[in-house]
Amino acid sequence: MGSKIVGTGISIPEQVVTNYDMARIMDTSDEWIASRSGVRQRHFAPPGVGASDLAAAAGLAAVADANLQPADIDLLVTATMTPDSLAPGIAALTQTKMGLLSVPAYDIRQQCSGFLYGMDLADAMLAGGRARNALVIGAETHAGFLPFGDSWDILLDPTKPTASEGEYERLTKYRGWAVLFGDGAGAMVLQASEDTDSGILSRSLHTDGSFFDLIHVPGVGFRHQPYIDLAQLEAEVHLPSMRGRELFKQAVTRMPESVVIAAADAKVELDDTTLVIAHQANARIVEGVRRGLKLEPHQVPINIDRYGNTTAGTLPILFHEQRKAGAVTAGTDVAFTAYGAGAHWGTVIYREAA
Ligand code: ACO
Repeated sequence: MGSKIVGTGISIPEQVVTNYDMARIMDTSDEWIASRSGVRQRHFAPPGVGASDLAAAAGLAAVADANLQPADIDLLVTATMTPDSLAPGIAALTQTKMGLLSVPAYDIRQQCSGFLYGMDLADAMLAGGRARNALVIGAETHAGFLPFGDSWDILLDPTKPTASEGEYERLTKYRGWAVLFGDGAGAMVLQASEDTDSGILSRSLHTDGSFFDLIHVPGVGFRHQPYIDLAQLEAEVHLPSMRGRELFKQAVTRMPESVVIAAADAKVELDDTTLVIAHQANARIVEGVRRGLKLEPHQVPINIDRYGNTTAGTLPILFHEQRKAGAVTAGTDVAFTAYGAGAHWGTVIYREAA
């Protein structure tokens, strides 16, 4: 027993913020952001919209795409780094917003690799006969962790004057990471399948906590007593801290490495028909993955220009777009690969049924 993909869906908030908008509140430019990261614009959810809302919308779209009803889903797995509240996670809220039955619902928090880990968990449950139709969702509302404060009004309204000198200086401190992220959700219905030649064929998943501080939120955790206080907010330890260059090097090495391991395990040839759905943290990283695997550009697609890094939402959004564009046909081998905070990384190999 294994599992196959029978439906996909996405939910992207309407509001678009371009690099030009970003340059009105901090010292940056479209040229810098686009050439260093590939991002040209990102979407942001409005205040009051949480990852569970985007997750539920993407989930319902995937269920409809699979020609199923919410009551057919008997396992839910959600992945997010930006939950609606610190606890509990978004799985329960998503279950109820979607009108699913009271099925088991798991929260996964492996950041950029969250969807990959979610796929593997769902596949194992389906293969073990514990469910028939599993819904896996990756959803993010990064807007809530961006330090824009009053400058949100300027970002969202180009007719407003640019940020004050003090605010511009404050926000410039965060430009290394604040320009990279965007909001969005993607979902996938995985169905139990007895065909051993197709569906999820193999995986190569890894974790190394010694890379924990490559990107992490150093404060507002329960090692602190109390877990949140004014001193932490003033020290800004509630904001992410990122060692971009080291992260870049790890990501560009670890993703292709795990693709090769997982493909060999599945006895899948990486040839001119393989499609690689790679995490979109930086277009130059994706390009490095492509070169490492010696594949053509259309085989390792990029959509970071339109969405930025949507963390757990990235893999299902990109896969949905490729599937709807006709890039996934009978027999197509797909390598889903990601590297993200933890560090967690890896690859899942999937073959579309003939
Ligand atoms: N606009 C203008 N200048 C900037 C900006 C910006 N937005 N950001 C940084 N700079 C400046 C820096 O201040 C620095 O200036 P200096 O030389 O005067 O000190 C210069 O540009 C170079 O900065 P670097 O950080 O060295 O730039 P780099 O080429 O490494 O690119 C980047 C930075 C885009 C962050 C890159 O390192 C990267 O993509 N790293 C990986 C990020 C990643 O993988 N994230 C995913 C994980 S996220 C997750 O798991 C949730």
